[in-house]
Parts: sequence; C-alpha cells; structure tokens
Amino acid sequence: MADEGSFRKEWLRPFFFYGNNWISLLGGAITTASAMVLVGFWIVSIFGHGGSSNPYLGIIFELILPGVFVAGLVTILIGILTRRSYLVATDQVPSFFPEISIHDPIFRHGLDFVVIATLINFVIVGTACYRGVAYMDTVSFCGTTCHVMLPENTAYHISSHAGVACTQCHVAPGTAGYIHAKVNGTKQLLEVVFHNYPAPIMAANKLPAASTTCLGCHDPASSIGDKLRISSAYADDEANSPTSSLTMLHVGGKDSFGRLSGIHGAHMGKIEYISTDSSNQTISWVGKTESDGSLTEFTSGDPKAAATGQRRTMDCIDCHNTVGHAFTTPEDALNKDMALGSPAVTLPFVHKEGLALLKENYGSPELAQAKITAKLITFYRSQYPAVWNSQQSQVNAAAKTLVKIYNSNIFPDMKVGWGTHPNNIGHTNSPGCFRCHDGSHNAGNAKTITNDCSACHNLLVSGELHPKLLSDLGLQ
Ligand code: HEC
Ligand code: HEC
Ligand code: HEC
Ligand code: HEC
Ligand code: HEC
Repeated sequence: MADEGSFRKEWLRPFFFYGNNWISLLGGAITTASAMVLVGFWIVSIFGHGGSSNPYLGIIFELILPGVFVAGLVTILIGILTRRSYLVATDQVPSFFPEISIHDPIFRHGLDFVVIATLINFVIVGTACYRGVAYMDTVSFCGTTCHVMLPENTAYHISSHAGVACTQCHVAPGTAGYIHAKVNGTKQLLEVVFHNYPAPIMAANKLPAASTTCLGCHDPASSIGDKLRISSAYADDEANSPTSSLTMLHVGGKDSFGRLSGIHGAHMGKIEYISTDSSNQTISWVGKTESDGSLTEFTSGDPKAAATGQRRTMDCIDCHNTVGHAFTTPEDALNKDMALGSPAVTLPFVHKEGLALLKENYGSPELAQAKITAKLITFYRSQYPAVWNSQQSQVNAAAKTLVKIYNSNIFPDMKVGWGTHPNNIGHTNSPGCFRCHDGSHNAGNAKTITNDCSACHNLLVSGELHPKLLSDLGLQ
C-alpha cells in the first residue's frame, strides 16, 4: 500500500482538483455532517434509545436527514461538473492531469475510490431508505404525524386492536398494495399541507379486501357459536336506577363438519350490495349468489332504480367497520363507565346530568374539560351541598370520566361528533344490520331478508333490575 502522500496524489488528485470549489465544499460539509448525525442516531436506536414518542423527531431523523445527505452528495457532484466544464471551456485543465483511460493508473485508482465511496453511500442511503420506509409504517407516523388522524388514533389506542399496526388493516400486503398506499399517502400529505383535506374523513370502500388483511389473523372457518352479551343501563332518576339486559347473539360460523350457522355463517357465501350514499348506510339492492350459482336479488323501493350503482361484495368490514377505532354514543359510553364504577351511582342524578353535559357543544377539548368540570361541580354544590361535602372526590372523578368520554369521541377540528362514524354491528344506534334486514328488502318471489329477532339473537332479559338469570348463571 502506498504511503499517505502518494495516496492523496495518485488516488484523490482528480477529485480534490475538481472538487476544490465552494459548491462541492458546501456539499461535502452537508454530507459529512448529516452522515455523522444519522449514523450516530442509528447506533443510539440500536441500543433502544432512538424511538422517541415525538413523531416530528421521527420525521426529521428518518425522512428529512437522509434527504439532506443525498442532497449533499448531489451538491458535490454539481460543483465538480460545473468546475470541470468551466476549466475545459477555458482550456485550463493542467497538463499533468490523468487521461480518461482505463490504462492510466491514476485514473484507475480514482475509479477505485469512486467505487468505494459509492459503496459506503449505498450502505448509508440503503439503511436510510429501509428505516424511512419502516418508519412510515409505524402507528406513530400514521396516527400522530398528521393531526387529521387524531380521532381514529385516539379511539385506536383504547381498542382491542391497539397492538395491530394501522397498516395491517389499511394496506394490502405485497408490492401493489404498498405502492397504492404510498401514492395515496403522498396525495393525503399534500392535502394536509395545503389544508385541503375532507373533514370528517370517511373510508368506506377504500380499504383493501378483508381477505388480505383481517384473515391474516382471524380464521373465518372458526365457529364462535353463541355469545352472551350483558349490558347495563342506568335511568335518569335520582337513584340512577340500574338495569341489565342479556342477549344471546347467534354469531355462529363454520363448524368442523363445514356446516355454516348463525350470523357469520349466513354471510360466508357471496353477497353483493349497492348503496346510494358514500358511507354505505342506505342500501337499495342486495344480491345473494345461491349454492346453485343463481342470483337472488333483494330490492327496497323501485327494483329498477335500486339495481343501478357500484356493486360491492360484502366482507368482514361491512359489519365490523369500527374494529380498529370505535366511536360510541353518549348513552353507551356513560352506561359502560358507570358499570365500571365512575361516575359513581351514589351521586344523585349523575346519569341525567352527565348525559346532558356530554350532549353539549364546547368547541375544543380544553373548553370541554373546563366547562364539564365546572358545571358538574356547580350542580352538586348548589343542588346537593351535603353530597358535595361528603363525596367531593367522587364528583371530581365523575367529571374526569365525562371529560375523557367527551374528548375521545368529539373532535371539532375534524368535524367528528356523536354518530359521525356509525357502527354497523347491531341496529339500536344506527341502521347497522337493518340496512338490509329491515323487512323491506324483497326478492320477486316474495322472499324477504329476515327481520325475525330470533334469527340473530334471543333477548333473554330486557332491562331488569337484578335479573334472576344473572344470579342463576352465577354472574351476579
Ligand atoms: C383492525 C383493523 C384496523 C386498524 C388496526 C386500524 N384501522 Fe382504520 N379503519 C378500519 C376499518 C375497517 C375502517 C372502515 C372502513 C369502512 O368504513 O369501510 C377504517 C377507517 C379509518 C378511517 C376513516 C374514518 C373512520 O373512522 O371510519 C381513518 C381515518 C382510519 N381508519 C385511520 C386509522 C389509523 C390512523 C389507524 C392507526 C392508528 C387505524 N386506522 C387502524 C380498520 C382498522
Ligand atoms: C395483526 C392481527 C390482526 C388483524 C390484521 C386483525 N385482527 Fe382482529 N383481533 C386480533 C387480536 C389479537 C384480537 C384479540 C384482542 C383481544 O382479545 O383483546 C382481535 C379481536 C378482534 C375482534 C373482537 C374484539 C372486538 O373489538 O370486537 C373482532 C371483531 C376482530 N378482531 C375483527 C377484525 C377485523 C374485521 C379485521 C380486519 C379489518 C381484523 N380483526 C384484523 C388480531 C388482528
Ligand atoms: C353480517 C355481519 C358480520 C360479518 C360479515 C362478520 N361478522 Fe364478525 N361478528 C358479527 C357480530 C354481530 C358479532 C358479535 C358482536 C359482538 O360481539 O358484539 C361478531 C363477532 C366477531 C368476533 C368476536 C367474537 C368474540 O368472541 O368476541 C370476531 C373475531 C369476528 N366477528 C371476526 C369476523 C371476521 C374475521 C369476519 C370476516 C371473515 C367477520 N367477523 C364477518 C357480525 C359479522
Ligand atoms: C348488505 C346486506 C346485509 C347486511 C348489512 C347484513 N345482512 Fe344478514 N343477510 C343478508 C342476506 C342477503 C342474507 C340471506 C337472506 C336469504 O337467503 O334469505 C342474510 C342472512 C342473515 C342471517 C340468516 C337468516 C336466516 O333466516 O337464515 C342472519 C342471522 C343475518 N343475516 C344476520 C345479520 C346481522 C347480525 C347483521 C348485522 C351485523 C347482518 N346480517 C347484516 C344481507 C345482509
Ligand atoms: C339481522 C340481525 C338482527 C335482527 C333481525 C334483530 N337484531 Fe337486535 N341486534 C342484533 C345485533 C347484532 C345486536 C348486538 C349489537 C351489539 O353487539 O352491540 C342487536 C342488539 C339488540 C338490542 C340491544 C341489546 C343490548 O344488549 O343492548 C336490542 C334491544 C335488540 N337488538 C332488539 C331487537 C328486536 C326487538 C328485534 C326484532 C324486531 C331485533 N333486535 C332484530 C341483530 C339483529
């Protein structure tokens, strides 16, 4: 190996010669500085300290800095080319300069240097691309970088899928799904930058087919059978009188003999539908492909008009549209939290007052927090001073729960309020199953999509105080 002097002279001379201009020097400084910070960040994150919860740090380290690094390299090249063309044009290329020939040893060494530098750059840029791409798939990037995702991100973190990445439901596996997602993502990013995004955001018909996402984790052939649903409700009286309902849902599925049963089994064949609105809430035509291949068409209203429009094949998402991030109703949310202990049932009229406070408009999360808390405290102070004196901590806890319910369901900036994103399971708060099972979707042969309560569930107990069945089952 030659000594350092001849290495510089022989290997690097052309680069230092042409690179000796302020553009390339600036590029060199940018490249070196960003490479050092990047590699430092990667080393730190290998030891587990790189993952910051701040999404903007992620954007800087995973997306912007690699871009700066590449821009630095390009700047060096621009400087070299500019200086070379200037020197060639003014005939100033020195006589000692190596020929551009593979037989010239200095040129060959220069080429070796380029190859080594390129390899190093490939490693850095490759690592950066890999990390950047992986970063764009994280929940932190999808959910928190853009404030427009705040409603879904908030609901997601308290859902049963909080451990499933957004992309596992929203992006089809494989290259095509990936490219589709990135093209869409870029479009959405521009919409956010130019404040040109829709509010509220709706996604009906935009998700990949459930067969490519949900079925990666859920086996549709597993039979769930019957599922007992117990729900509690509280009345608007002074005692917040509690009642329970017990419903046996016939979820069914496919059993080990391949027999289909219940709710899941009934929709496992091919069912298509046409809706007349963008969130698939009004369904005018339903087509069921029978086992012999014939099509039974159920229509609501004028059969000819009902059958025109875009057909969609029903899958898991048409019922489970809120699995990733469910918004609820003020009644359901309050009943559920009261059953868990807060707001405490010992506070007179807390159900009635709480519900009224949840249904008001406050304009922002901060105002909601301030006003809900102040109004609830004022109510007990003025109407029930004795309760306020003895149960101050319960009143404060109740206010805290109400604020939590409100701020995880109402997002004024994104125009998300009660009922903006209806849940298609059930039929009590939004049309849900009754979009088709309302008793008015008929086939020509007088067949109707069933509206028989017992096809889907048996209402074992409906709103009773201490139902005997609960204690018989050992649940109370
Ligand atoms: C378990 C699957 C799943 C996960 C995980 C998931 N989503 Fe969704 N998402 C859905 C489904 C299903 C829809 C509704 C599609 C439809 O209406 O047809 C949806 C709809 C949306 C919508 C449209 C508005 C709405 O609420 O219907 C947004 C925005 C959204 N998701 C963002 C996210 C973000 C951000 C994350 C991660 C923080 C995420 N999702 C995680 C399944 C999921
Ligand atoms: C990466 C794996 C994964 C994917 C993808 C996934 N799930 Fe799940 N899902 C789970 C796990 C794990 C649970 C159990 C969570 C628990 O028990 O708390 C679950 C629970 C559920 C439940 C019962 C709890 C609830 O919230 O009602 C339903 C329904 C469900 N998933 C439907 C879906 C649908 C529909 C999709 C596609 C849009 C989907 N899942 C995609 C893993 C997944
Ligand atoms: C026709 C509507 C409908 C379709 C389509 C549907 N489901 Fe369900 N599913 C239900 C209902 C209703 C329940 C019970 C609701 C509840 O638990 O509150 C349920 C329950 C579940 C559960 C939870 C069971 C439990 O033990 O809590 C899972 C998991 C599930 N479905 C997955 C799927 C998957 C995966 C698909 C697609 C292959 C699918 N479902 C298609 C209506 C549907
Ligand atoms: C897009 C329309 C559509 C939606 C939405 C829908 N279904 Fe169905 N459902 C059908 C069709 C079509 C049939 C088959 C009717 C037939 O063959 O007579 C069916 C059949 C059934 C059956 C079998 C009925 C029987 O008598 O054998 C059950 C149970 C059922 N659905 C439950 C549900 C539940 C629960 C929901 C909501 C979570 C739901 N369906 C949502 C279209 C729908
Ligand atoms: C196509 C299927 C289907 C039909 C038909 C149907 N329901 Fe339901 N119903 C459901 C499902 C699914 C749920 C559960 C929703 C959930 O899990 O949140 C439900 C929930 C309910 C609830 C709330 C139970 C609770 O625990 O909060 C009541 C009440 C109810 N149904 C009454 C009826 C009555 C009365 C009829 C007959 C006129 C009927 N339903 C017909 C599917 C159906």
